[in-house]
Amino acid sequence: MAKYVVAVDGVVGAGKSTVCRAVGNVLGWPAVSTGIFYRTAAFIVHRHGLTVDAEQKIRQLLAQELTKVHWHLTTSGEISYGKETLTAQLQSESMGYAASLLSELPAVRELLLPLQREVVHVCPARGVIVDGRDIATVVFPQADLKIFMVASLEQRARRRASDESLHPQALLAKIKARDMRDSGRTLAPLKKAADAVELDTSMMSVAQAAARMVTLIRGHLPGAAT
Ligand code: DC
Repeated sequence: MAKYVVAVDGVVGAGKSTVCRAVGNVLGWPAVSTGIFYRTAAFIVHRHGLTVDAEQKIRQLLAQELTKVHWHLTTSGEISYGKETLTAQLQSESMGYAASLLSELPAVRELLLPLQREVVHVCPARGVIVDGRDIATVVFPQADLKIFMVASLEQRARRRASDESLHPQALLAKIKARDMRDSGRTLAPLKKAADAVELDTSMMSVAQAAARMVTLIRGHLPGAAT
């Protein structure tokens, strides 16, 4: 198991996965973006024609289908579902929105929680950076360092729009709705852990945010990441 876990939570488009990957490259640690678990579940649910109101059917379906998924998240980053490689099809904002809807269901969170922990347990690297919404509060409450990433709504819409070739205005409402859903749900809502360090990336480039995070990690975990 990885000895050190850095937990990073934050809103849509704060730059979590891009920055964590950059930090991982500097430290030689893998970065795992747990949104991918929810996106994969949303893909499977959609593929089987179910909607989020059918929680019992979703539970049965996912309990069966998730056994066919292989998460190569600390190596190639790929996700295979049976003979298919899903990675590219999971990236769109509409898949993120579908994942957010599904992530409200207790059955889904219950099924995905042990899978997220398992990926880190079997990770042979010295440390791992894990990002999501409830990493510091639920998935790894004992994480060695907790970071809460924020950025202004406008900046986040601009970043996402350039990723998806969409107009920023077109994304603003979607991002706002997803933030509200992720923060407002009863189970494992997005919130800053009491002992998390806040990192505002509004005025930072990816390289600047990554450099700040590396400094935080080296400062908090002396010797872990030299
Ligand atoms: O980080 P992302 O955009 O890939 O996440 C997609 C959705 O998955 C997010 O809007 C809410 C859900 N999610 C979650 O509930 N808990 C996590 N740890 C990660 C993601």
